[in-house]
Amino acid sequence: MTTLEALLQDRLATAFAAVAGAPADPSVRRSQHADFQADGALALARQLGRKPREIAADVVRIADLDGVCSTVEISGPGFINLTVADATIASLLAGMSRDERLGVQPVATPETVLVDYSAPNVAKEMHVGHLRSTVIGDAAVRLLEWLGHRVIKANHVGDWGTPFGMLIEHLLDIGESEAVHELSMGDLNGFYQAARAKFDADDEFKQRARTRVVALQSGDEQTRRLWRLLIDESEKYFLRLYERLDIRLTEQDFVGESFYNDMLAPVVDELDRLGLLTESEGAKVVYPEGFTNRAGDRLPIIVRKRDGGYGYGATDLAAIRYRTQQLRATRLLYVVGLPQHQHLAMVHAVAREAGWLRPPARAEHIGFGSVLGPDGKIFRTRAGETVKLGDLVDEAIARAEAVVAQKSPDLDAASRAEVALAVGIGAIKYADLSNDRTRDYVFDWNRMLSLDGNTAPYLQYARARILSIFRRGEVTPRRDLPAIAVTDPAERALAIELLAFPGVVTGVAESLEFHKLAGHLRQVATAFTTFYERCPVLRSEGEVRESRLALCDLTARVLGRGLGLLGIATPDRM
Ligand code: ARG
Repeated sequence: MTTLEALLQDRLATAFAAVAGAPADPSVRRSQHADFQADGALALARQLGRKPREIAADVVRIADLDGVCSTVEISGPGFINLTVADATIASLLAGMSRDERLGVQPVATPETVLVDYSAPNVAKEMHVGHLRSTVIGDAAVRLLEWLGHRVIKANHVGDWGTPFGMLIEHLLDIGESEAVHELSMGDLNGFYQAARAKFDADDEFKQRARTRVVALQSGDEQTRRLWRLLIDESEKYFLRLYERLDIRLTEQDFVGESFYNDMLAPVVDELDRLGLLTESEGAKVVYPEGFTNRAGDRLPIIVRKRDGGYGYGATDLAAIRYRTQQLRATRLLYVVGLPQHQHLAMVHAVAREAGWLRPPARAEHIGFGSVLGPDGKIFRTRAGETVKLGDLVDEAIARAEAVVAQKSPDLDAASRAEVALAVGIGAIKYADLSNDRTRDYVFDWNRMLSLDGNTAPYLQYARARILSIFRRGEVTPRRDLPAIAVTDPAERALAIELLAFPGVVTGVAESLEFHKLAGHLRQVATAFTTFYERCPVLRSEGEVRESRLALCDLTARVLGRGLGLLGIATPDRM
């Protein structure tokens, strides 16, 4: 099963290669002038020293497009305009409809992909940056798993380091049960800030905190137990959030920084043996090739601090070595904010130099921008504090309830609650995933919950509306038609959009640019709206009716599957 675009690309590639005497890209894309357009002749012209129109003419003469296209025309400087034959569309659609996977084949060579995402810090509120990482990482996990890869979810929580000295002392000051209470209420920031305030103001406390860090590092039992308590309580809170947000992370996926503690010394030794380690002001550092500051000085990754402690960088190095050597991951995705780009690039460079990241293994930084408030500044509460994600989820659901109550007053209470949950959570996720992840985006409740924008509720309603057609007509659309005929231009436009789904999905599995999948679903839904306005479905007859029902069904399935890959639920009735 292939998409139209791939089919055309394939047929033309043979002709282009013959004309060029070497492989050449036909560059097939969607076009306003025909169904598709191939621009490859323009790029070839310079290379071959010929006029692009002549090249295009040669290509068209020998290309095997009979039975695929109804017309092939050369336009402008040498574009090839391709109009696909109705019969081609009809049979490709039928093939897609028969296929439970909608034309998306599982990958031929599955690999082990590790997704490092979410990664909040223990005893600290998750902020919207963690929300982005969580939402994007979750979509990556769903998509790659569906394609047949072995996916390892790694929640690299910050559960180690000097702040634990003050956190444990504060815990002792207020008492265990009070601490557990505060943390289980999700008041992570309150707890952290109280500890911090004492640390800054009180020398005696500061001293206790320092001694406590040493006790923690040397494995003192009582200290370890209290540290574990902080972690367990925070993790419980994170898990509750994941569950409400319908995120696939579980307890087993918490592999925090402390997990790598025993590997840190061996990592430093190995770097030393490899000759990569340098002393700098009492610290042990590595200078990866190609990283300098503005003044041209080389930048270090600190692996062992002057006081003997190890930091964030050492942990990341141990983690990458573990992930490639023990877990045998070959694709490592770091879903982390863009401000950490340089850090990750340096870690990855050192790992390559040390031989811990050898092809086919590779690491990719799946970076993302910030979430902004309506004022264009980093998203915060009115009081200027970090937004508590629990509150954000509550608000999303409450607002969605209002939208649903207005739009679907006849739904019973239980379905209404279910729909509100799907709409509220879906709205948050879609607002994130529909934007180019490398850019900042503005968190805007009204926009993300709007029923006629590029939003989750719009797409969820589009799908539910299609299912209501079947209910109304009391029909089950066939999925075994030999052909799904398209005649009306609106029908054709929808068909071509639907046939693009497999190509979009495979492209996004490479680039992890989820806004391209979101944009595709949005186009499917708008093409459907036009189709549905122009082409009667239940009121049509015979083969036309069957084909149109099948087209509706395919649209609903593409929307359902596509949103599912983004981690967005799709209620059947809304
Ligand atoms: N805990 C870190 C933070 O809150 C993110 C960790 C990202 N993952 C990694 N392997 N460094 O910023």
